[in-house]
Amino acid sequence: EKGGYEHFMMKEIHEQPKAVKDTLNSYIKGEGEQKVIDLADVGLGEEEIKEIEQIYVVACGSAWHVGMASQYVIEDLADIPVRVELASEFRYRKLPVNGKGLVIIVSQSGETADSLEALRLAKQKGLKTLAIVNVVGSSIAREADHVMYTFAGPEIAVATTKAYSTQLICGYLLAVQFAKVRGLIDDEKYDYYLEELLALPEKIEKILSDKERIQWFASKFSNAHDIFFIGRGLDYAISLEGSLKMKEISYIHSEAYAAGELKHGTISLIENGTLLIGVLTQKQLYEKTVSNMTECKSRGAYLMGLTTYGHYEIEDHADFVVYIPKADEHFAGSLAVIPLQLLGYYTSVAKGLDVDKPRNLAKSVTVE
Ligand code: F6R
Repeated sequence: EKGGYEHFMMKEIHEQPKAVKDTLNSYIKGEGEQKVIDLADVGLGEEEIKEIEQIYVVACGSAWHVGMASQYVIEDLADIPVRVELASEFRYRKLPVNGKGLVIIVSQSGETADSLEALRLAKQKGLKTLAIVNVVGSSIAREADHVMYTFAGPEIAVATTKAYSTQLICGYLLAVQFAKVRGLIDDEKYDYYLEELLALPEKIEKILSDKERIQWFASKFSNAHDIFFIGRGLDYAISLEGSLKMKEISYIHSEAYAAGELKHGTISLIENGTLLIGVLTQKQLYEKTVSNMTECKSRGAYLMGLTTYGHYEIEDHADFVVYIPKADEHFAGSLAVIPLQLLGYYTSVAKGLDVDKPRNLAKSVTVE
């Protein structure tokens, strides 16, 4: 049942190229230059897309991290203001509604209690709702106005990997389609984004083929007390997910910080040998984050850099570097997250922990 892998998590990590491909192929239709994103099954029409004035992405845990990443991509491509909210907070606020809003609920299980209640609240407020869900026929899928399914297949390991990756894809597809419908990108740019999306599965495969290096690195740091993940923009969103993967299955305390925020307090936690992982896929933000990394190095941190092939000068600063293939920067998070999933996984294995069923956690959180 684990397909020859030791744990479901590793099996599911390896299923990501296929899961991502299946999700892309479910919404990208046509051949060659005629390819288009088809949201007919989602039921989101062009008029409806043009009317959106504000988007809220509401979710919990890793699904909330998908919201954080989607925010950058939707705002950048489609120019619609996006707010990302934890479902357990969204529910208990006043939420003034001005104009036409779309609430996107992201949930693998479709049963998370807070996400379901947030969906109900949004509907009461007269907001349009769209659910990005993996489990067909789940409560959230049944109650939302529109449903965009992720095609990850069943996910067994408590720590999400392939569901997260397919949720990200849905976020990108919405961003690109919203941009197109609202006249913000021309056909050439549209085709380019579709090609870049369709190229992701193969690039994920390539990263997975080099996993032994991450395994070696994980064994070196499996006794760590704290690990910090930093990045700016989309790299911050990916840091959040990398940090959660690490702490939930390896039980090592870790934090993700927006790189510029570290020096406002948290940097006092950096000691000799503390592992600090810098995520560096965004060209414009690269130098700034590297400079935050070196600030930490001068306080004793051991630096791991995660960047794209070509940025070899990072080796002047970082003690260990993982390279990922180049991709359009909006979508690079889909690649950067893979080594971080592997790092969490191998750290857990090195510590002899129950990777698939970490303590105190349930796959589906149906309590509030
Ligand atoms: C972390 C993880 C959780 C879930 C969260 C929401 O690896 O899996 O953080 O992302 O509990 O669950 P769903 O997506 O089912 O609503």
